[in-house]
Amino acid sequence: MHHKTTIEPFRIKVVEQIRLSSEEERLQYLADAQYNPFLLKSNQVIIDLLTDSGTSAMSSEQWAGVMRGDESYAGAVSWQRLENAVKDLTGYPYVMPTHQGRAAEHLLYSRIGGPGKVFISNTHFDTTRANIEFSGATAIDIPIEEGRHPDWDHPFKGNMDTARLEALIAEHGAANIGAVVLTVTNNSGGGQPVSMANARAVSEICRSHGVLFILDACRVAENAYFIRHREEDYADKSYRQIAQEMFSLADGCIMSAKKDALVNMGGFLALKDLDLAVQCRTVLIITEGYSTYGGLSGRDMEAIAIGLEEVFDADYLHYRIKSTGYLGEKLREMGVPLIWPIGGHAVYVDAKAFYPHIPVEQFPGQSLVCELYLKAGIRSCEIGSVMFGKTDADGQLVPAAMELVRLAIPRRVYTQSHIDYVVETFRELITEKEKAPGYRIVYEPPFLRHFTARFEPVKG
Ligand code: F0G
Repeated sequence: MHHKTTIEPFRIKVVEQIRLSSEEERLQYLADAQYNPFLLKSNQVIIDLLTDSGTSAMSSEQWAGVMRGDESYAGAVSWQRLENAVKDLTGYPYVMPTHQGRAAEHLLYSRIGGPGKVFISNTHFDTTRANIEFSGATAIDIPIEEGRHPDWDHPFKGNMDTARLEALIAEHGAANIGAVVLTVTNNSGGGQPVSMANARAVSEICRSHGVLFILDACRVAENAYFIRHREEDYADKSYRQIAQEMFSLADGCIMSAKKDALVNMGGFLALKDLDLAVQCRTVLIITEGYSTYGGLSGRDMEAIAIGLEEVFDADYLHYRIKSTGYLGEKLREMGVPLIWPIGGHAVYVDAKAFYPHIPVEQFPGQSLVCELYLKAGIRSCEIGSVMFGKTDADGQLVPAAMELVRLAIPRRVYTQSHIDYVVETFRELITEKEKAPGYRIVYEPPFLRHFTARFEPVKG
């Protein structure tokens, strides 16, 4: 039996009150936060789409696991569960628990990075690039051409350009390539999936040159959904088998458990090679914790082990990808310009096209973020010139490639009526587009300005 409505395949056992607010109150809250939603208090927000990271609702099974957590310093039962869960999923024998994804990145890239080394990715996530560059190495992004154009259709827009990969290895020399990092799904490129064929091609190139191949696997289950439904020969495989096949192509993985492991904190590094694992484990013990807990409590490790099973449930993944797509399709029907097709964890709005009257120097993405908050208490994230813009020697803005606003969907948190409320808000914003002001920055820190910059509206 096929139903038109994809229902949430869970019912609600515990609720968290959302504090509703009036537009008048939000005007004051946003002014107090100096027009930067990162500076809002979370109880001033009605629907929080800032990130899908660490914002999942845990299941009753995971909470039961929390109660079972074994907090022994060494060799805890909860560690054995996590280690087995990661080994079963990835096939990698050496597992290191960390407090989140970037800590796992630090363990690996501080060992294999350094001046002269080059890292190549479909797109490095910000913290990945930062860890690589902090070691003195260089990070290069080579998504396929389709991935650089918001409205070009392609089933696997997250793919890596393998011809460029060959060329870069030839140019820099295989010995100078620190690693090739495939990010699944490609978060910075719009949450777009990577095909198995592409992962296999990347794997073969790496193998033939003796280059290390690492998966950034934090959304590997969502990626598996797209492979099963879009790539030939995968319709009869389970999501878990698809993920296992992808892991088998690489030499190791980094995972932020805050995404597809359905927990609020945690991560791990897993590797095939013993020598490299011994080096990384030394950094683990110095910076995170002893090797059988890393940066985690026993209860966290239980919850991750359970989440890694739950995320591959077919009904869950169907609901997850369909519900993200639902928001994207409704917005597209209304003519909201978007990155298309819709990815796994978020909808990315093209704010430059939505607010053509706001020049890039006045941050159309920041304007949309502020309007969504003022109108309806929705918190979203600018991914444009506030986040990635640079200033040249004459003090002029060098804009980012795109002015996007990300609506990231926390896992198992919001129901369809919450999402319909977001859709309705856009319907209203469309009718009053020309009223949205541009913004100017009145304070910015030297690094990562989007977190703490202060703004004011430009009076027209
Ligand atoms: N890799 C990818 C692809 C990510 O999206 C993130 C985090 C990380 C690594 C780092 O993991 O946060 O656990 O240290 N992405 C979050 C986001 C912050 O909002 O997209 P972490």
